[in-house]
Amino acid sequence: MPCNIVVGGFFGDEGKGKIVAYLVKMDNVRLAARGGVGPNAGHTFNLNGQTFKVRMLPSAAFNVNTNLAIGAGVLVDPIILLKEISTFHAHGRTFVDPHCGIIKEEHIRQDNISFLKERIGTTGTGTGPANSDRALRKLSLAMDCSEIKNYLNDVSCMIHSDLDKKNNVLLEGTQGTYLSLYHGGYPFVTSKDVTASSVCADVGIGPKYIDDVIVVFKSYITRVGGGPLENELGKEETQKRGWQEYGSVTGRERRSSPFNIELAKKALRLNGGTSFALTKLDVLFPECAGVTDYSKLSSPSKKFVEEIEAELGLKAELIGTGAEVDAVIDQRH
Ligand code: IMP
Ligand code: MG
Repeated sequence: MPCNIVVGGFFGDEGKGKIVAYLVKMDNVRLAARGGVGPNAGHTFNLNGQTFKVRMLPSAAFNVNTNLAIGAGVLVDPIILLKEISTFHAHGRTFVDPHCGIIKEEHIRQDNISFLKERIGTTGTGTGPANSDRALRKLSLAMDCSEIKNYLNDVSCMIHSDLDKKNNVLLEGTQGTYLSLYHGGYPFVTSKDVTASSVCADVGIGPKYIDDVIVVFKSYITRVGGGPLENELGKEETQKRGWQEYGSVTGRERRSSPFNIELAKKALRLNGGTSFALTKLDVLFPECAGVTDYSKLSSPSKKFVEEIEAELGLKAELIGTGAEVDAVIDQRH
């Protein structure tokens, strides 16, 4: 490793949480730092049959040997953060940058009325209005928030200090490339850029320190909220294929479409992807559930993977074959 980034290649919900949890488990990650927008993201991972969701902490939260950091560019909802620290017994290993913006009730209220809620279909978690206040230079920062004062630390310094010690650092982005305020289908996007470059800026590290940018693609596409989705399937067809999913933050039913190679190609370029992960292969090919050895995949599923690899000119280094963190074919060298 030393310093890798995990980002989403489509519209969020690609399975970043599971990939991060797997890497943390396998690679002795010393520090996991979350970039991205804030609690509008829900990252899910399954360990020993139990499902966990994080909206503020990195998906490394379960691993007691990993320090958990939230970068300066991320918005913090103190109520959600404190709850997660308690759930994961993460007191003493959670660090919030003093420059994180703080979401207040008023931001949540604004996010749940008219244009944002009805037209854009935001998650209603207050992130857009809070980022707007930040641009107006009137948002409160974590350094002014008494509820989380015990967790403040300079996250950029922490990352550089771990890298100096040759410790592994993992940076976790949120949402997906095509929800980027700059590169997605505006206005049906989130409130900031969410590509790998922004994740670097969020946590306070320049691009030259990054070793790998892992772009996560799901084997089919889902999108929640408004905005175009090429080759979108109807509700019935989505159900027939077993692709129906529900938003982990909002519970809304997700829309779906088949894998889109052109979007994947562009996502690799936008993020500077050095490798990619392909998740939920078992949803397309149930016979692949739980497989961890590439040679044991069925022929049609191999064909699916290899066609994508050929088009992208990269190997699928990590392939997800089930909800459990360990259900991964790991083809890294
Ligand atoms: P916001 O980020 O809550 O402002 O919502 C803007 C758009 O991004 C809406 O279409 C949301 O459904 C979508 N969105 C935001 N966060 C996520 C996420 O973590 N997964 C999937 N969609 C998201
Ligand atoms: Mg999600």
